[in-house]
Amino acid sequence: MTVPTPTRDDKFSFGLWTIGYNGADPFGGPTRPALDVVHVVEKLSELGAYGLTFHDDDLFAFGSTDAERQNQIDRLKGALGATGLIVPMVTTNLFSAPVFKDGGFTSNDRAVRRFALRKVLRNLDLAAELGAKTFVMWGGREGAEYDSAKDIRAALERYREAVNLLGDYVTDKGYDIRFAIEPKPNEPRGDILLPTLGHAIAFIDSLERPELVGLNPEVGHEQMAGLNFAAGIAQALDRGKLFHIDLNGQRGIKYDQDLVFGHGDLHNAFALVDLLENGGPNGGPAYDGPRHFDYKPSRTEDETGVWDSAAANMRMYLLLKERARAFRADPEVQEALAAARVDELRQPTLGAGESYDDLLADRSAYEDFDPAGYFGARGFGFVRLQQLAAEHLMGAR
Ligand code: GCO
Ligand code: MN
Ligand code: MN
Repeated sequence: MTVPTPTRDDKFSFGLWTIGYNGADPFGGPTRPALDVVHVVEKLSELGAYGLTFHDDDLFAFGSTDAERQNQIDRLKGALGATGLIVPMVTTNLFSAPVFKDGGFTSNDRAVRRFALRKVLRNLDLAAELGAKTFVMWGGREGAEYDSAKDIRAALERYREAVNLLGDYVTDKGYDIRFAIEPKPNEPRGDILLPTLGHAIAFIDSLERPELVGLNPEVGHEQMAGLNFAAGIAQALDRGKLFHIDLNGQRGIKYDQDLVFGHGDLHNAFALVDLLENGGPNGGPAYDGPRHFDYKPSRTEDETGVWDSAAANMRMYLLLKERARAFRADPEVQEALAAARVDELRQPTLGAGESYDDLLADRSAYEDFDPAGYFGARGFGFVRLQQLAAEHLMGAR
């Protein structure tokens, strides 16, 4: 099987903090030197990515002077101009600086909340200047360790107040930017607000401008909560809320591993790529935004390992895309899908114009229906279908 080479049309993007991760963890310091943004843009361009994303503090350190900040922005712009890479998404760091130890938008301290809003507004101007279309909000410090220390309902009110204000701001400024909330259950806080994609969707429904706000779900974050990521993405698509996506790998319910995409639950990664690429109308793509990798090159790696792992993310995605295409094209799979009646679920349960009175009058639906004998010896064949998927995934078909 030939592995396609990534091209810009694949819309692969990387966070500056991902390849830029220096290996520091809670148990040990850096294992690699920092990477310069210009070098990062050149390397990503060479590898076939189309975009770079960043937090304000990734590009210019927290506390930089205006001149230092501008210098870094100019250097980034120069590299973008030279390579043709774009910045599809920008995000704000409201979690690293000590001032955010109890959160940004939802810190118990009102002055911190006001400072957080100002930091985000400033970064929104930069996002607009760079042409970013998505502004991610990951509230890593918005949460608590102790139940009595945080009034969760008040915190949600403050979160809502903040997002409503940001919605007003982009609307008044005429910015072509939408917001994407990134859920995570825990880490760094003991419990984080809006812990899963479902919590975030319910929160978005309560906003003043819900149309401006969607999701940036991350593979590992839902899996840290033991949830099925592909199924969650299907629900986000159902609500029109998949604005952006963070692809990576996670092996079970534990700390946030940020492995290469596909290096965790490979079956679910296959289901995800199949959904994104083939789950749309008439079997076309269901999502056309950036395929954004939010992973960490393991701290065991040197710089060569960093770029190998960046390439591995794109390679895994393209391999899975190719495997999903072969799965859909296989006549035996089509027959197994039909036998499993996967398509029948698309058919409404009531007939056109049928009311509950009509349903109550339909003796075949109840009085004459034989639930015990209906399926009897007949199963759905889901296991056979799954085995076909697994064989395609393994390149055996
Ligand atoms: C994490 C998060 C972050 C966010 C990033 C963008 O678990 O650390 O995934 O990497 O994606 O802050 O907002
Ligand atoms: Mn993460
Ligand atoms: Mn993320």
